[in-house]
Amino acid sequence: MVRTLKNTKDFIMIDNKTPELEKVIEGAEDFLPLLGTDFVELYVGNAKQAAYYYQTAWGFEPIAYSGLETGRKDSVSYVLQQGKIRLVLTSSLQPGGTINDHISDHGDGVKVVALWVDDATKSHEETTKRGAQSYMEPYTVEDEYGKVVLSGIHTYGETVHVFVERKNYEGVFLPGYKPYKPNYSTNNVGLKYIDHMVGNVGWNEMNKWCEFYAKVMGFAQMVSFDDKDISTDYTALMSKVMSNGNGRIKFPINEPAEGKKKSQIEEYIDFYNGAGVQHIALATDNIIETVTNLRDQGVEFLYVPETYYDTVLDRVGEIDEDLAPLKDLGILIDRDDEGYLLQIFTKPVLDRPTMFFEIIQRKGAQSFGKGNFKALFEAIEREQDLRGTL
Ligand SMILES: [Fe+2]
Repeated sequence: MVRTLKNTKDFIMIDNKTPELEKVIEGAEDFLPLLGTDFVELYVGNAKQAAYYYQTAWGFEPIAYSGLETGRKDSVSYVLQQGKIRLVLTSSLQPGGTINDHISDHGDGVKVVALWVDDATKSHEETTKRGAQSYMEPYTVEDEYGKVVLSGIHTYGETVHVFVERKNYEGVFLPGYKPYKPNYSTNNVGLKYIDHMVGNVGWNEMNKWCEFYAKVMGFAQMVSFDDKDISTDYTALMSKVMSNGNGRIKFPINEPAEGKKKSQIEEYIDFYNGAGVQHIALATDNIIETVTNLRDQGVEFLYVPETYYDTVLDRVGEIDEDLAPLKDLGILIDRDDEGYLLQIFTKPVLDRPTMFFEIIQRKGAQSFGKGNFKALFEAIEREQDLRGTL
């Protein structure tokens, strides 16, 4: 079966009208169908300051706000956007309640992965009849700019998918929100769209959740180099990538595996207190420029030993970029049958070692950077060897 993707750069939301989409993942059924990621909502301790962080460090532009000033009494949300990526940061204004419970259990983290659909009522019906647990029955919200239909289902951990039908809406975000334009200008760093969003699930739960996406949402497993055991002597994880039919939504699912040291997935599960979103991969057309700007604005990236670059070109072959800036920034390179990719991971962006971001630039490759796991650990070991501590 051919399940390769075509150009993911085409997968962008231009307006609220339903686009015509081509099926690129064989084996997937698009009974919903999903048009793209609508927004990602994080429950955070202090939405105002989190919004400032994503504006200053990440260059997201503030677009909408909902809170006391708009008549919402119990909670507050800031909506930020860059390219087609929309983040919603939500905090409670009261003691107790679901938002505070979520923060108490998980720390700041992703609660909602909202999916853009043509028909939110049908999406709820199709998924719940296939076994999804309802999070929100379909309901309509309206204001002077039109109406939006929302519905939702539960997925791994306490994470949920909200289906957003916005074809009859022209407002800034959703009814109940007003435009948010603080007197502060952000520096767009060239982030375009969400390439993939990764979920960490518990021991031996990966297949269960892959089956969930196959059965309930019609996803198919992408054939890639990432669907086998990813392990070195020191850390281990299992990962499979599920995609919807048009390839706009890609959800790799990780589970921990036994290694000599504690798996990074296990560490996440311990600190997040269960399954949840591990990382959000954001696409750029110029990773060197994007990462230079992010670093200048205070985003911290994972350390990559210089020794990684001693052997990287032997592994991946010719690339268009000079190696020097990639080495300077710590950008990783991997290759598959279709091309190569450049990627880099941030340190966790929250207090708990849980969620982080990936910046990715695809140059043909449709996989997720499996070759970098082993290469990174080998590079670290070569450094240890140099210090005589291996
Ligand atoms: Fe990733």
